[in-house]
Amino acid sequence: MIEMSLAEVAGAVGGRLTPDTTGTVRGKVTVDSRAVAPGDLFVAVPGERVDGHDFLAAAADAGAVAALTTRPDGALPCVVVEEPVAALGRLAAAVHARLTAGRPGTGGLVTIGITGSSGKTSTKDLLGQVLAAAGATVSPPGSYNNDIGLPLTVLDADEDTRFLVLEMGSRGRGHIARLCRVARPDVGVVLNVGSAHLGEFGSADGIAVAKGELVEALPAEGTAVLNADDPRVIGMAPRTRARVVTTGRSAGADVRAEDVVLDEAGRAGFTLVTGGARARVRLQVVGEHQVANALSAAGAALAAGMAPDAVAAALSAAVPRSRWRMEVTRRDDGVIVVNDAYNANPESMRAALAALAGLPARRRIAVLGAMAELGPGAADEHERLGRDAVAAGVDLVVAVGPDAVGIADGALAAGARDREGAVRVPDRAAARELLTEVLVPGDVVLVKASRSYGLEVLAADLLAAGAGA
Ligand SMILES: Nc1ncnc2c1ncn2[C@@H]1O[C@H](COP(=O)(O)OP(=O)(O)OP(=O)(O)O)[C@@H](O)[C@H]1O
Ligand SMILES: [Mg+2]
Repeated sequence: MIEMSLAEVAGAVGGRLTPDTTGTVRGKVTVDSRAVAPGDLFVAVPGERVDGHDFLAAAADAGAVAALTTRPDGALPCVVVEEPVAALGRLAAAVHARLTAGRPGTGGLVTIGITGSSGKTSTKDLLGQVLAAAGATVSPPGSYNNDIGLPLTVLDADEDTRFLVLEMGSRGRGHIARLCRVARPDVGVVLNVGSAHLGEFGSADGIAVAKGELVEALPAEGTAVLNADDPRVIGMAPRTRARVVTTGRSAGADVRAEDVVLDEAGRAGFTLVTGGARARVRLQVVGEHQVANALSAAGAALAAGMAPDAVAAALSAAVPRSRWRMEVTRRDDGVIVVNDAYNANPESMRAALAALAGLPARRRIAVLGAMAELGPGAADEHERLGRDAVAAGVDLVVAVGPDAVGIADGALAAGARDREGAVRVPDRAAARELLTEVLVPGDVVLVKASRSYGLEVLAADLLAAGAGA
């Protein structure tokens, strides 16, 4: 964080410094006492399972100058507030306001917000690497997209930062609007409107209303980067005062991909076309869905002032950054494991199946767990997924766990042979046992499910089983 005295921190969050002491935050802001280094500010988040207040002494021992808390504590100076998470947002807002003071046109901080149902982290990782080629960039690790992760990302920026990349998640109306009040983006990127968290929103249109809060928050001199291939996204254009830049495969898009090809490792190459410029891109991330993400990242980087050639070169140099998203690993015995177990919804399942179909293989196996939070349409969606897997050329569908049974039903209904083409297993252990038996060199195994099913453990087991084989 930029240097701030404890009195300034208390003023920014509307808290009471207890005891009233001098001191300066010279390090970072963190909610994890294990990550505290001397000079840091520790935020005690009251969680469901653990309460950050139980770690105040540990934070003090590790050198924290102060903590943001709900009550005073003998261990260290506390800035006492009612809600530490809300206070964290206010602190980030104050810092962001300082870093953007005097804008626009001063060459100061450019803030980019990214939202969408699928691909936020993937796009953020691409854009973070692209912008880093043009100037000092802050882009969070992993999926820092909520009321804690986003302020922490903002607080990582300082006077030297030129580009700030923010992932914005939404689990309901008003969430993205709130994140935009912490740090109003200059550039807002909307990737797609799918069915992630459909259960909570009720309908895809409801999701579009919530995601569109990002473009509503943009200033007139800002840029909305909208995916022209998604009708609900391009439909957001009238909701913004900002200039609109469209991205996509369609001929009319401002920033588009032509001549898309996949190499034998499933990585896409395409010609980035924008204005009169054309530049070839060869992505290092896996799956054709990454073309859309790359175009969105390109649209944002161009809006931030980069030249098309530089964007294409940086996209081609960008490597996978976050775990468990289309991680393709070859075992010593020649079995290939595709770990996409970070999360799942119908759209990301289909993207992963398409990527699996694009990989050369003797046999394609999809080990799929359930998709959570789909609401009343869940049963149909699981069955449709099983059918789609067969249509995508998957040779064996393994449905893991009781919630995933519908996937196997769908595969059987689409003509997969019982046991040979579609199998139900009760849990991860049973899946591991089955796969240990059936996998042979040349097989490609996709592992994917919603986060709560923890299938990344299965993917790791499969890799460990093949080590030294
Ligand atoms: N543009 C896309 N369209 C469809 N699926 C995608 C797209 N980009 C990524 N995916 C798939 O979606 C899954 C999640 O990707 P990623 O983590 O980038 O999304 P996210 O939007 O950040 O998710 P979360 O809401 O969990 O933070 C990955 O498994 C990936 O295969
Ligand atoms: Mg994410």
